[in-house]
Amino acid sequence: MGKSFLNPPKSRIILALDTPDKRSSHRVMEQCADIVDAIKINYPLVLTEGLGFISELKTEYGLPLIADFKVADAPVTNNRIARMAKDAGVDALMVHGFIGADAIMEIQEVAKEEMGIFVVTELTHPGGLEFTRSFSEPFARMAAYLDCFGIQAPGTRPDRIQVLRDTVGPDMTIIACGIGAQGGTLETAVQAGADYGIIGRSIYEADNPRQAAMDLAFSEAFPATEQTGNELLKEVHVVRYCSETDSYTLRAEPADEMRDQVKQFVQYCRSHGIGLELTQSEGVLLKKKRSLIHVYTTGSCLISNLPSAAEGEKIARDFMQEVRTDMDA
Ligand code: XMP
Repeated sequence: MGKSFLNPPKSRIILALDTPDKRSSHRVMEQCADIVDAIKINYPLVLTEGLGFISELKTEYGLPLIADFKVADAPVTNNRIARMAKDAGVDALMVHGFIGADAIMEIQEVAKEEMGIFVVTELTHPGGLEFTRSFSEPFARMAAYLDCFGIQAPGTRPDRIQVLRDTVGPDMTIIACGIGAQGGTLETAVQAGADYGIIGRSIYEADNPRQAAMDLAFSEAFPATEQTGNELLKEVHVVRYCSETDSYTLRAEPADEMRDQVKQFVQYCRSHGIGLELTQSEGVLLKKKRSLIHVYTTGSCLISNLPSAAEGEKIARDFMQEVRTDMDA
């Protein structure tokens, strides 16, 4: 096994420090530095405060730092980004898998033994299923073959973490995003094979970030599941809230008696060209006013671009009613 670029897991939280500026970042870090295992920073904060803020954070809090730059350009540019990150003191850099093995190897040559590489495999938002899902296992295999330090995995889909863990073997580090605000829980992700969970909004947007970090480190994050009491729906729960667009994504599970009808409905749509076929026989994508419903072949639904959770529930109920009417006809 190669060098480890992170401390051994304790709370297993990698704090996504997506705070708007230095001042707010320090406010959160002062409360959480002794709880979280590492810091992850992203473009918005670095574009605001500059690369120099990375060494400031490292000096001040002594934690390993991951730069989530999702590097995805031509090698000449990737290598410059990697060099700048390494010089700034970054411990591990996130790069996209789709840039290919040669481009990743070049970044490794820049990083040498001073900076680890995480390969992004499968994104958590619904659109992540459209393309990244089809390639997440090949990305993970490539990362393992190239002896990268680790991979990113979708913490909202424990079954996928398990598949990706089986793909890379026991030694690679897996960091799971989508924990907390998007509905994934640290316990489930770790059970499925992740080493750490990335958590941002659930901590830095909390009234008491320290308490939130402590709660998330040791207990279920955001169950937010509601039994609907509706004969057509078993449950509906929020899996993602996007503060930038103020929109929600919900997962809706049909009632057990409805599931077969939803599965039939998916097949009907696919054979009659209704909606957009999802790749790999995953289901269909249907547009409902300004929202989208991913209806999977399993009968589960993801409803996105929603102005409110209540609107999502209404769409889910109407959709199940529509399925029942159509399939009974
Ligand atoms: P939140 O606030 O959702 O922060 O806890 C997530 C952080 O992880 C980054 N990131 C991802 N977020 N799906 C995500 O939703 C992904 O696949 C993903 N990969 C990384 C995100 O940019 C934010 O910094």
